[in-house]
Amino acid sequence: MDRIRIVGGRRLEGTIPISGAKNATLPLMIASLLTDQTLILDNVPRLADVGLLQRILSNHGVDMMVPGKRPGESQQNGHTLHIVASRIVDTTAPYDLVSKMRASFWVIAPLLARMGEAKVSLPGGCAIGTRPVDLLIMALEKLGANIEIESGYVIARAKNGLKGAEIKFPKVTVSGTHTALMASVLAHGTTVIENAAQEPEIGDVADCLNKMGARISGIGTSRLIVEGVSRLGGARHSVLPDRIETGTYAMAVAMTGGDVLLQGARPELLQAGLDVIAQTGAEITASNEGIRVKRNGSAIEPIDVTTDPFPGFPTDLQAQLMALVSKAKGTSRITETIFENRFMHVQELVRLGARIQLDGETATIEGVATLKGAPVMATDLRASVSLVIAALAAEGETMVHRVYHLDRGFERLEDKLAHCGAAIERVSG
Ligand code: UD1
Repeated sequence: MDRIRIVGGRRLEGTIPISGAKNATLPLMIASLLTDQTLILDNVPRLADVGLLQRILSNHGVDMMVPGKRPGESQQNGHTLHIVASRIVDTTAPYDLVSKMRASFWVIAPLLARMGEAKVSLPGGCAIGTRPVDLLIMALEKLGANIEIESGYVIARAKNGLKGAEIKFPKVTVSGTHTALMASVLAHGTTVIENAAQEPEIGDVADCLNKMGARISGIGTSRLIVEGVSRLGGARHSVLPDRIETGTYAMAVAMTGGDVLLQGARPELLQAGLDVIAQTGAEITASNEGIRVKRNGSAIEPIDVTTDPFPGFPTDLQAQLMALVSKAKGTSRITETIFENRFMHVQELVRLGARIQLDGETATIEGVATLKGAPVMATDLRASVSLVIAALAAEGETMVHRVYHLDRGFERLEDKLAHCGAAIERVSG
């Protein structure tokens, strides 16, 4: 199994190109099931999760093509995917595939909308809490689906098609909103989705669905209105930049010190995150090129932050922020409100010398002057990258084990950081 070796203490200087967002790419690929025409996605990041979803979709009969590289194109840019689901050959998503990636459960919505039936395995346990799918099922039922749960599978049927309805989510859910959107675009009549998640990746998918012929309005607000259409066609869409990757590298620079341009990053996608990073003492400037993060010698200031649905501070940056303030001059508090049990990084950060106390959903972090390298274990995607950030600012060598978690969501992480002067390398085997 690959590991990543980091020798900490170097400032980061240079440019990091920001990849297409994983959390938009996955639902965009799934949306291809809604049409028999070709969906072309540009700026697709090269990630293990994208590869796994390709396998899952091919099981349903989806063809995926990556055109050859053109002159001048480099590995630095995301790639283009041509996806065509001209014929769905199987409406079952089996346990061995769905259990590897939760988001693959979302195929239930387009399969049901287009084929009138879907049988999708329940995703099973997850390292960051129970993460149920009750609200996804509620949304499908509201749209007229008949749902049965049998031997670990959700079987959804709507033989005469789905019907527009009012869906009001009792809590903000990204997965629920994606599901409601993808199911309702082909329903008869109008659907209103209340208390919809406003994450930018939802807007990106809705924009793409509209290019395919859907009629969605209210994009970017908590009330989405969908006028159902009888069919969708092909489209070409470029995936929006990854705001979590952006925030992660911004926090790395805020922690090590230095000056880095996050090329292609868009500040409006993570204003709450940037505000917090600025509060810790880093200088943030936005331009047409992206976001520049600078910190020169000043102390890291402590913060008090609570995670919230967009536009609040994202749970997917909580672990990275904890790494950053583990070296703050003072005591910080971070409260996690989205997922219970999303604190697996705490014990690993403590191995590097961080001082963190957990009390329910709140972590109190007493800043220390130095962290010291140690062997640590990646546990989930965002937790593992927090260990990388901490290691970059720690004295001596850190070996991060189980890096397959990182490969799920960060494209060429070690290359991007090494280009900015970090001493980081992948050790194979
Ligand atoms: C998505 C993101 C993930 C991010 C999260 C919150 C993708 C691929 N993943 O995950 O990176 O951390 O949004 O921004 O986009 N819930 C229920 N019942 C349900 C569905 C959700 O109770 O049926 C709860 C969850 O347990 C959680 C909360 O709602 O406590 C938010 O979950 P949700 O927004 O759906 O997260 P995901 O879509 O799984």
